[in-house]
Amino acid sequence: MRLPSLPKRFHTASVWALYALGLTPALWTFYLGATGQLVGNPVKIFEHLLGDWALRLLILTLMISPLRDLFGINWVRYRRALGLLAFYYVAMHFLTYMVLDKRLALDVIIEDIIKRWFITIGMAAFVALIPLALTSNRWSVRKLGPGWLKLHRLIYPIAAAGALHYCLSVKVIGPEQLIYAGLVTLLLGWRLARPRYMARKRATGRRPVRVTGMV
Ligand code: HEM
Repeated sequence: MRLPSLPKRFHTASVWALYALGLTPALWTFYLGATGQLVGNPVKIFEHLLGDWALRLLILTLMISPLRDLFGINWVRYRRALGLLAFYYVAMHFLTYMVLDKRLALDVIIEDIIKRWFITIGMAAFVALIPLALTSNRWSVRKLGPGWLKLHRLIYPIAAAGALHYCLSVKVIGPEQLIYAGLVTLLLGWRLARPRYMARKRATGRRPVRVTGMV
């Protein structure tokens, strides 16, 4: 069964729509917080929402390849937007932590990054995402050649670090953390199994789907 595909003339618009849709949870929750409509601790609610969406978007970015390889659903045109949205969410999550949560108390922030393991891991994932975000453009793909693909494979350890950061941020690991960690594990497993699967597909004469990048 094939999904009906979007006419080509709507491709660019659909990518912009994805950016707008992707940024909506952050903008809406910020608005609710700024107008006093968030019950409880608005800063924590906002910080957590940004972290949750960062992880969801990393997972969605990683799902694009298996969706195409396994089910023939080609949403590769959305991968860059999803990856960049994940980066924007991590950056907003980090800024919220620094500015709204810790009120720019640099000594506390540095101590947290050094001493609290889950924050050390989150920070490492954020730093590793920066070169990926900076090279998510056609010019960099051309300039870096095969190195681009190698660099962008960092998205796998980054997503794993994000899931670990989430698991370590809670006192008791519950179903939500297990679901996210399970999804990331499955996607990493797929990455390892993919070459054999594609080779078998080629051997049985089914047309393999060409991969041009993981992000
Ligand atoms: C790829 C990078 C990151 C991802 C995917 C991520 C994701 C998350 C997630 C999913 C949560 C839990 C939200 C919830 O409980 O609903 C969280 C919490 C948190 N993250 Fe991150 N994060 C990342 C990087 C960072 C960085 C760079 C920092 C700061 C240096 C940071 C600081 C925190 C803090 C302080 C919490 C809240 C802990 C608490 O008070 O319960 N994170 N993050």
